Amino acid sequence: MARKDSKQKVDSRKNAKNVEISRAAGFCDDFGGFQGGGEGIYLSGNEQAPAAKSPKSAQKPTPTPDDNAILQVYSRLPIIFEKGSGVYLYDAAGKEYLDFGAGIAVNALGYGNESFNAALKAQIDKLLHISNLYYNPPAIEAAKKLAKASGLDRVFFTNSGAEACEGALKVAKKYAYQTGIKSPQIIAMHNSFHGRTLGALSVTGNSAHQKPFKPLLSGVKFAHFNDIASVEKLITPKTCAIILETIQGEGGVTPASKEFLQALRKLCDTHNMLLILDEIQCGMGRSGSMFAYEQYGIMPDIITTAKALGCGVPVGAFVLSQKVADSSLKPGDHGSTYGGNPFVCAAVSKVFDIFNEMKLVQRVAKLTPTLTQTLQELCDSYSFLQSVRGKGFLQGVQIDPKSKIQAKDIVQLAAEQGLIILSASQNVLRFAPPLIITQEHIELMRHKLIRALDRL
Ligand SMILES: Cc1ncc(COP(=O)(O)O)c(C=O)c1O
Repeated sequence: MARKDSKQKVDSRKNAKNVEISRAAGFCDDFGGFQGGGEGIYLSGNEQAPAAKSPKSAQKPTPTPDDNAILQVYSRLPIIFEKGSGVYLYDAAGKEYLDFGAGIAVNALGYGNESFNAALKAQIDKLLHISNLYYNPPAIEAAKKLAKASGLDRVFFTNSGAEACEGALKVAKKYAYQTGIKSPQIIAMHNSFHGRTLGALSVTGNSAHQKPFKPLLSGVKFAHFNDIASVEKLITPKTCAIILETIQGEGGVTPASKEFLQALRKLCDTHNMLLILDEIQCGMGRSGSMFAYEQYGIMPDIITTAKALGCGVPVGAFVLSQKVADSSLKPGDHGSTYGGNPFVCAAVSKVFDIFNEMKLVQRVAKLTPTLTQTLQELCDSYSFLQSVRGKGFLQGVQIDPKSKIQAKDIVQLAAEQGLIILSASQNVLRFAPPLIITQEHIELMRHKLIRALDRL
């Protein structure tokens, strides 16, 4: 597929700066983050870096959908990942992949962070689980750190993002119940994603995801994202909450506009409705602030978080203001056997410490212009890449709907070149790297992506 002729001011491959990334000894960058592991890659602008290393072990057969016991609800790439180091993944044959997907925006610390792993191992030796009938020190610590980071007051730890959204919806319903509202209604957004459990699915604005599972929760109405008039039209005296992602992730990487979010806050205040922000994908530093709403000059009443909260350990949370906590869930209203156990909370607590030590949020803010400019240059070079949108290290590249090119085909070609990227709906390429990447990794991503795009 040819690049744009008229706009071919940037021939990315020819103009590419020589990139030399030596990871043999690991290196420290200006944020003090260690990028270690692996052998050196030497990649110059005119060179093709080796797509694959020679297999270190005998190649294992890739399981096909039919010959293994896993329920096939995903369209998986036929890659078996065995290990990771820094921002690189290695498959069963030893091939190396630069990871700009981070396990779908989870692995903020990349792979093999030694102090994170040591904290997990230490907690395994102390106490894995005790139930919520008692307190445990990691949960107390982790909740304090999450409350402080979010500017909210009360934390309930869950096992996943969907479950955090379930909890937030229950808070909203109980809040409405306390104020005498029967059959409360909730406003959600078209094109949103909040998870696959039935409550979370009920507020997920994607009819294909919903259709086979109806009837879902009643009382949910969908407005158009970034269209305040469409929200206003749906408000009734029974509306108790508005739920949205601060940046729609799965729906195509679309940030809420400042005017929209600020107007939603005002509407919620006027009508005594709760503003629930789902920061499961865009939160925990990915947007360039710890939580994306910090960039909007508003405070939500409830947030949901997960993914990078545990950096690979399965944990989520919903977090409430004290005011909402006082008028909603009480003992007996909600629970989870595993939720907030010592093991996952040791992970959360350590994640916050490492974020501080490595100044990860600042790193994202500093490197965002490099990432967006790199993606913009690719849009300038390839006619089917239309535009870049997103915030921080959650960026989307819109593929021209008029072209026949599918994001998933580019994802596959990129993987063949040793680059992991994601797709999102509306035919968008999604970039969600670990927050520890450096400028050199962005440059290497560009080289690999160009090689993939040139094969279209
Ligand atoms: C914004 C958002 N909310 C909720 C979820 C659901 O999280 P989980 O898959 O952990 O249940 C996701 C997952 O991608 C998400 O991106």
